[in-house]
Amino acid sequence: MDVIQTNSLTKTYDGKGGISDVTLSVGEGIVYGFLGPNGSGKSTFVRTLLGLLQPTSGEGYILGEPIGTTKSREQVGYLPELFRYPDWLTGKQLLESHADLCKIPVRQRNKRIEEVIELVGMTGRDNGRISGFSKGMSQRIGLACAILNDPKVIFLDEPTSALDPIGRKDVRDLMVYLRDQGKTVFLNSHLLYEVESVCDHVSIVHQGEMIAQGPWRELMMTEAQVEIVTEGSISAPFPPFITDYQKGKAEEGRTRWVVQLETEKDIPKILHHLSSRHIDVYEVKPINPHLEDVFMHWVNRKKESAYVDNQ
Ligand SMILES: Nc1ncnc2c1ncn2[C@@H]1O[C@H](COP(=O)(O)OP(=O)(O)OP(=O)(O)O)[C@@H](O)[C@H]1O
Ligand SMILES: [Mg+2]
Repeated sequence: MDVIQTNSLTKTYDGKGGISDVTLSVGEGIVYGFLGPNGSGKSTFVRTLLGLLQPTSGEGYILGEPIGTTKSREQVGYLPELFRYPDWLTGKQLLESHADLCKIPVRQRNKRIEEVIELVGMTGRDNGRISGFSKGMSQRIGLACAILNDPKVIFLDEPTSALDPIGRKDVRDLMVYLRDQGKTVFLNSHLLYEVESVCDHVSIVHQGEMIAQGPWRELMMTEAQVEIVTEGSISAPFPPFITDYQKGKAEEGRTRWVVQLETEKDIPKILHHLSSRHIDVYEVKPINPHLEDVFMHWVNRKKESAYVDNQ
């Protein structure tokens, strides 16, 4: 069963902004990246899924239950983007009040609170008042609240925005830990380098519209980049399947090329081309795209098609 499913889900604010026409399915035991620049509609989408905003149109389900119902929220954890907790409480008291809200039985409460405090790296610091917490500590305690009731689905809206590099790594590790326990993590982010190692499946949203979705490494199968080191230089003309190239220097008078090909299938062709010209090849290395490349590829495609449509 899909953990999250939407059909043309739309939420606009008096016809403006928000996000439109999102159809997606999110399976069990994955970290799903919902990625887009500022203002692209990520938070609107999550808040609509959680029933905090009324959809304008379309439908959505969490664990098979229609969004907006109490049942759809029963097994859900949520770290909002901009949250403020009562700052006169200590971290532990905040978790105790959350445990009340989640109706965690009193006998299990302390053990569970200790567990989540450890999971978010706050052991020994949870007795301080929230008013004295740094931004990073607040974000960690927010994460602890989100996972306290051992939810099956966890929505994290920019969970690392206040964290230093160590904190960011901790959150990545936590997401992997949750995923390995069979949980589904739905992650809103624009920090692409950070999420590429934990998300396989992504949606890319831009200006309130979904522009691509799927396993991100497969979203750019159409283009390939290869790094090649040759003896000496290669003279023009270049074969047509090379769509672009950059030339640099390698050791011992060799030349390092970064060659752009239309498709991965052209990699053997370039080798044939070089050997037919008796050019010695010392290295051939496909350059794996980063999530940021995939993201920019789809955003640029979108911009180009909008430009053509407007002509
Ligand atoms: N309450 C609101 N009233 C009117 N417009 C809104 C409201 N909330 C968001 N918007 C608009 O909807 C669009 C999407 O906003 P949203 O906050 O969902 O984006 P986001 O992708 O989460 O951005 P960020 O990365 O900055 O958090 C923006 O154009 C925003 O101005
Ligand atoms: Mg947001």
